[in-house]
Amino acid sequence: MTWQGVIRQFRTQLPVTDSTPELSLYEGNTPLIHFPNLSEQLGIELYGKTEGINPTGSFKDRGMVMAVAKAVEAGSEAVICASTGNTSASAAAYAARAGLKAIVVIPKGKIALGKLAQAVMYGASIVEIDGNFDDALKVVRKLSETEPVTLVNSVNPYRLEGQKTAAFEVCEQLGTAPDILSIPVGNAGNISAYWKGFTEYNEVNRTGLPKMYGFEAEGAAAIVREEVITQPETIATAIRIGNPASWQLALKARDESDGKIDSVTDAEIANAYKLLASREGVFAEPASCASVAGIIKQCEDGLIAKGATVVAVLTGNGLKDPQTAIDQIDTAPVTLPNDEDVISDYIKKLVRV
Ligand code: F0G
Repeated sequence: MTWQGVIRQFRTQLPVTDSTPELSLYEGNTPLIHFPNLSEQLGIELYGKTEGINPTGSFKDRGMVMAVAKAVEAGSEAVICASTGNTSASAAAYAARAGLKAIVVIPKGKIALGKLAQAVMYGASIVEIDGNFDDALKVVRKLSETEPVTLVNSVNPYRLEGQKTAAFEVCEQLGTAPDILSIPVGNAGNISAYWKGFTEYNEVNRTGLPKMYGFEAEGAAAIVREEVITQPETIATAIRIGNPASWQLALKARDESDGKIDSVTDAEIANAYKLLASREGVFAEPASCASVAGIIKQCEDGLIAKGATVVAVLTGNGLKDPQTAIDQIDTAPVTLPNDEDVISDYIKKLVRV
């Protein structure tokens, strides 16, 4: 049977009823890709769960399809979210599909251009504020309590329900749970969703449980530092969050799995970002690469057993943020005159080196 999207595919494992619409943009079923070059370099078996393959280019689609379907079921006519970009793109797309109004509140100047373009094209009402994600979340949480609008941030429990399906897929793709599941941490919803998914899958299929390794950006590492960060900063704008809403659930995932939550610097994120694209052919957005950066750091510190099976969640597509990619490259494109001889001579040298 061809892939049916998250709601139809995982119907029995999700809180859906006969009146939940079978909304879908065919999200889920993303590839688990082995990384032979990085595996050899690190002495482990490293895989990437490439969530950038989802319909709007990030893992958010798994949870958003559930949150929007349940909003429709409840008779809601509008959804609202705060976002560093991907949630707004996903909310706007699924709201468009379901015929709901979408309102998105974003930190001005701090979201990747591709994500903004998506929200515009899907027809959301976009509100930019002079604050950060945490400020935006505070406002939309409050509004959703008094206004006829459904909050679709990951504090909406249906979001985590949908997102847990990625853990089911990892177990199915590997035939077992990995030794370590590495994941970027921003608002801390996804690490919580994966842990729920692994736990539920293990209860039925006895595939075991991974250790959950979460990585925050150093300039936004509230959980690691055990304090709210009022001015979070990082090149990984998707995880530029100083007061994660699912903080306690993330600690639970860490502690129950005997895992860890650590931080990685912007330089470590940028290094992983470039390595993944140039050595494995996978272009993931900067925040996603915190998962790989964290694993590189742990391996270099001798903290991961040789030969361990590690799955890094690559949460979003690199194409969403072309500016950061261009800012990171050291070699600018060469400009030549439109002269066949000059062009040929130049390229011949490249081929023969
Ligand atoms: N990676 C990407 C690409 C993200 O967009 C996000 C979160 C995360 C990782 C972190 O996931 O919040 O569940 O810990 N983006 C949200 C947004 C905040 O608004 O798009 P988390």
